[in-house]
Amino acid sequence: MAILKTEQLSKTYFQKQGNLFHKALDNFTMDVQKGEFVGVMGPSGSGKTTLLNLMATIDRPTSGIVILNEKNPNELKNRDLALFRRREIGFVFQDFNLLDTLTVRENILLPLALDHYKQQEMEDRVNQLAHLLSIEGILDKRPFEISGGQQQRTSCARAMIHEPSIILADEPTGNLDSKSAKQVMDTFTTLQKEKGASILMVTHDPTAASFCDRILFIKDGKFFSEVHNGGVRQSFYQRILDTLSVLGGGYHEPSTSR
Ligand SMILES: Nc1ncnc2c1ncn2[C@@H]1O[C@H](COP(=O)(O)OP(=O)(O)OP(=O)(O)O)[C@@H](O)[C@H]1O
Ligand SMILES: [Mg+2]
Repeated sequence: MAILKTEQLSKTYFQKQGNLFHKALDNFTMDVQKGEFVGVMGPSGSGKTTLLNLMATIDRPTSGIVILNEKNPNELKNRDLALFRRREIGFVFQDFNLLDTLTVRENILLPLALDHYKQQEMEDRVNQLAHLLSIEGILDKRPFEISGGQQQRTSCARAMIHEPSIILADEPTGNLDSKSAKQVMDTFTTLQKEKGASILMVTHDPTAASFCDRILFIKDGKFFSEVHNGGVRQSFYQRILDTLSVLGGGYHEPSTSR
């Protein structure tokens, strides 16, 4: 079952002066199956963030549709849309987006607190998730007291605490060293395997991508190709590198590999 899909999704940005326009996304059709971990890769400016923003309902499509958990968010009124976004989507950003005034525990609980969950239910959930992700030891610290990798694992827990239909992640390992990046990818894998999370992740990093079930490649706003993880991560990684070198856009540097 597709938990998230787009059909012929397009986004055109119009320039203020003159009649210039730019087709950032061009008839893009894709889906994420329930419980699937899908990666999106493509050169800078190819439309990856545009795609994620349309799915996240942060932006509205010029044409085409987004269906998340059998609903079309663009048919909702603004008030319902905010609620839809909060309940159906978990976000993980490149720069973590945690609140420094709150502890790790409070940051993770934020989506539940906004929805007025009972105290006991909130505590049970955060303890269970923290145990699963091995972050029990930092629950009472504040974001500035923990490492970047720990901050991103906290963001992953916050994205999952309300068990959304999908987790959307834009370059989640972009600000991390390779060891922390690996830990964050292990965190996503754990959420997928143990909690049945469905995840869509934009990444430039072939190693991070090799943790996915499938990679969608995008070029100039259009679907380019797709590569499946056959079960052997090393060969999947190699096929990702091969596709990136065909795709172009400054990817073929083995030094960026981990
Ligand atoms: N708000 C906007 N107004 C005008 N043009 C935009 C806007 N947002 C994005 N674009 C353009 O749309 C294209 C796609 O941008 P997008 O941010 O989706 O690329 P990306 O694949 O995420 O790139 P990167 O890898 O650098 O993050 C780019 O050419 C960009 O300049
Ligand atoms: Mg981007």
